[in-house]
Amino acid sequence: MGLFCVVVSLVLIYTLNQRFYSGDWHEIKRTFLVCSLSPIKLRTCPCETTASLSPSPCVGLSLCVSLPAFAEQILAEAKSAIRRMMESLPKLGGLALLLLFFLSSSTLTSVEAYDALDPNGNVTIKWDVISWTPDGYVAVVTIFNFQQYRHIPSPGWTLGWTWAKKEVIWSMMGGQTTEQGDCSRYKGNVPHCCKKDPTVVDLLPGTPYNQQIANCCKGGVISSWVQDPANAGSAFQVSVGAAGTSNKTVKLPKNFTLKAPGPGYTCGPAKIVRPTQYITADKRRRTQALMTWNITCTYSQFLAQKAPSCCVSLSTFYNDTIVNCPKCTCGCKNNATDPGGCLDPNTPHLESVVSNSPSNQPLVQCTSHMCPIRVHWHVKLNYKEYWRVKVTITNFNYRMNYTHWNMVVQHPNFDNLTQIFSFNYKPLTPYAGLNDTAMLYGVQFYNDLLSEAGPLGNVQSELLFRKDKSTFTFEKGWAFPRRIYFNGDNCVMPPPDSYPWLPNSSPRLGLPKLIPFTPILAYVLLLFLHL
Ligand SMILES: *[C@@H]1O[C@H](CO)[C@@H](O)[C@H](O)[C@H]1NC(C)=O
Ligand SMILES: *[C@@H]1O[C@H](CO)[C@@H](O)[C@H](O)[C@H]1NC(C)=O
Ligand SMILES: *[C@@H]1O[C@H](CO)[C@@H](O)[C@H](O)[C@H]1NC(C)=O
Ligand SMILES: *[C@@H]1O[C@H](CO)[C@@H](O)[C@H](O)[C@H]1NC(C)=O
Ligand SMILES: *[C@@H]1O[C@H](CO)[C@@H](O)[C@H](O)[C@H]1NC(C)=O
Ligand SMILES: *[C@@H]1O[C@H](CO)[C@@H](O)[C@H](O)[C@H]1NC(C)=O
Ligand SMILES: *[C@@H]1O[C@H](CO)[C@@H](O)[C@H](O)[C@H]1NC(C)=O
Ligand SMILES: *[C@@H]1O[C@H](CO)[C@@H](O)[C@H](O)[C@H]1NC(C)=O
Ligand SMILES: *[C@@H]1O[C@H](CO)[C@@H](O)[C@H](O)[C@H]1NC(C)=O
Repeated sequence: MGLFCVVVSLVLIYTLNQRFYSGDWHEIKRTFLVCSLSPIKLRTCPCETTASLSPSPCVGLSLCVSLPAFAEQILAEAKSAIRRMMESLPKLGGLALLLLFFLSSSTLTSVEAYDALDPNGNVTIKWDVISWTPDGYVAVVTIFNFQQYRHIPSPGWTLGWTWAKKEVIWSMMGGQTTEQGDCSRYKGNVPHCCKKDPTVVDLLPGTPYNQQIANCCKGGVISSWVQDPANAGSAFQVSVGAAGTSNKTVKLPKNFTLKAPGPGYTCGPAKIVRPTQYITADKRRRTQALMTWNITCTYSQFLAQKAPSCCVSLSTFYNDTIVNCPKCTCGCKNNATDPGGCLDPNTPHLESVVSNSPSNQPLVQCTSHMCPIRVHWHVKLNYKEYWRVKVTITNFNYRMNYTHWNMVVQHPNFDNLTQIFSFNYKPLTPYAGLNDTAMLYGVQFYNDLLSEAGPLGNVQSELLFRKDKSTFTFEKGWAFPRRIYFNGDNCVMPPPDSYPWLPNSSPRLGLPKLIPFTPILAYVLLLFLHL
């Protein structure tokens, strides 16, 4: 296991990251820790799970390696590494193809939902049966967002499930199903929904009081757990008919699906848990639900398959070069096929153009990267004991005010962050011994709103780090972040070989000598895992 992780770390760092320059042991340590601390499960799985993602024929059962935290990281990084290799090193095209082949044919693609920076993050759906009725029960369903930094943004969550028997929903409060379905077998009282697989959405703010319950009616928007715990939940009430009427006969609904708003979440089965206890307002009496079950859903960037929406640019005080976001990160500006695809900030009467174009489409400012969000990392000053970074987040979207925005940054020096100006800071430390990831977010009423594109469409902060003499260096891109997320989405970094150099430093080493062999090494390793 240890050896396995060493090999995986080295392979990952050499081939995929291209970030390993001598001295950057932090990357190896991190990869190794994440690998060895994530639950690695070996299990057999049906062929189709891999065959659907793999061009290679699949015979019988293959051994699936489920490396939750890790596989996603490998896949995500491999994808961008392959893209970078294809773009910058045409000569290595053959190698890239080999890499692509090993990735697509490897069973690592059967990953479980997981987020390496928030491995315990989940959305928990809790059903509390609060009363039995003559033909069923009344339950309060609560959705908790236990993710540190990922919100459920507008247009909000959509929750679906399949009834175990012929249940119907007589009525709902604080939420509604999107379709009623066929209720023709009911005379007189018609149920709210008769579908076998109902789909529920939240009600909008401003719903009449007699249709509300506590924590409902926020248009399905839920905050992340760290930023706004008071708004990290959402609730609705269902009155279920044609169902069991005691904790022995009730059948749990199955096959839960959560869209929040798009795909990306995978939900487990409902599990009966200890009934929820309620404390009365005067705190002198406890009541409890008649029965409670929980469903846990986890997010996977791999499943969400989102196109990039954010990119990173870099600059330093010691080199005039500003490394811009990679070109066409989030799409290409194209006059011929998509003339109104973006908006030139110098357009006269900009505001009327924005308000007159169809309002359901995003409208970004014309840039070479076309991303709605750019994060700029400027290495600003070098003191004897400290060094200082300025971070600016710029909004290029004319149609979006980001309320409660957040950013996650990974850099080895976050374990000695001394001061941060005008942003909130919370260290994310899911792996013991690694304190290299920070969640940064706005201060309420000051800069927690990132305004739409324009003169006000940016927020900025400065970070002061204390130097650790044994690791600190301005060389080899060490001072730049390793990974940035904005609102839970990965921001595309420029390729490491374009990073600004220190003056007088010799040009960077070419690719490490091992490069030509590592894809083969990796392939052998994966073949070995394949069995
Ligand atoms: C969901 O997240 C909460 C809060 O982090 C955690 O206590 C709980 O164990 C998680 N549940 C699962 C099934 O991982
Ligand atoms: C069930 O969900 C609730 C609320 O999300 C949580 O507090 C509780 O710990 C969960 N129970 C189990 C056993 O996961
Ligand atoms: C059902 O209720 C009985 C008592 O009313 C209790 O003993 C039993 O544990 C409950 N079963 C479940 C699955 O909650
Ligand atoms: C579960 O839901 C998905 C999508 O809604 C559907 O494709 C699948 O057939 C369902 N499975 C069962 C066992 O109902
Ligand atoms: C795109 O169109 C604008 C005006 O419509 C024009 O000024 C610009 O030169 C065009 N760019 C290209 C690359 O054709
Ligand atoms: C963003 O906020 C500003 C000021 O509150 C408002 O004028 C503008 O219409 C908002 N834009 C969008 C797209 O909601
Ligand atoms: C991580 O580092 C920060 C900054 O030095 C510190 O405030 C925080 O307590 C550390 N967290 C852990 C878990 O070590
Ligand atoms: C940096 O942080 C680490 C871990 O918190 C600590 O062991 C080390 O002494 C710190 N270094 C400096 C120079 O403060
Ligand atoms: C700044 O960095 C670039 C690489 O991005 C390099 O080409 C250039 O020579 C460097 N400038 C100086 C003054 O070292």
